[in-house]
Amino acid sequence: MIYNTSSENGTIEVATGFATLLNTGDVILLKGDLGMGKSVFSRAIIRHLTKSPDLNVPSPTFTLVQTYDTPDPKIGTLWHFDLYRLESPEDLYEIGWEDALTSGVILVEWPERLDYLTPRSAITVTITPGETATSRIIMIER
Ligand SMILES: Nc1ncnc2c1ncn2[C@@H]1O[C@H](COP(=O)(O)OP(=O)(O)OP(=O)(O)O)[C@@H](O)[C@H]1O
Ligand SMILES: [Mg+2]
Repeated sequence: MIYNTSSENGTIEVATGFATLLNTGDVILLKGDLGMGKSVFSRAIIRHLTKSPDLNVPSPTFTLVQTYDTPDPKIGTLWHFDLYRLESPEDLYEIGWEDALTSGVILVEWPERLDYLTPRSAITVTITPGETATSRIIMIER
């Protein structure tokens, strides 16, 4: 599926709609350059699935991962990874990657860093620039 959004709110709407389709075991790889909206997209999913519209969702820039409990047994725990600073894929084991794979829904910013540990069955969300400063093209592939 391809979506064009003309504002941050448009991206939030797409992400919220996408969130309703998720199930435990899903891995979402969020690709796109700096500032494209990977965190905006992730935050909207997290707020929807935790049913907390105002939840503070910091970028896990230094901790590399942040978990969120959801009230929905169909989702379980939400794992939000930002792997920009991951030095090698082996380091994933120190931040709970194996637990994440068996206990919920995984969101990954900078999934290129997963390298050979990239799960085979993942959903890829790629965000690229649109024609204006606040437009984006969002491609979702299963
Ligand atoms: N259509 C849009 N969709 C998403 N974000 C938008 C849009 N238009 C403007 N923005 C702005 O772009 C920025 C996106 O920032 P965000 O932190 O989500 O990017 P990111 O891809 O996570 O970057 P990083 O690689 O640094 O983690 C925000 O400041 C947001 O307000
Ligand atoms: Mg980000």
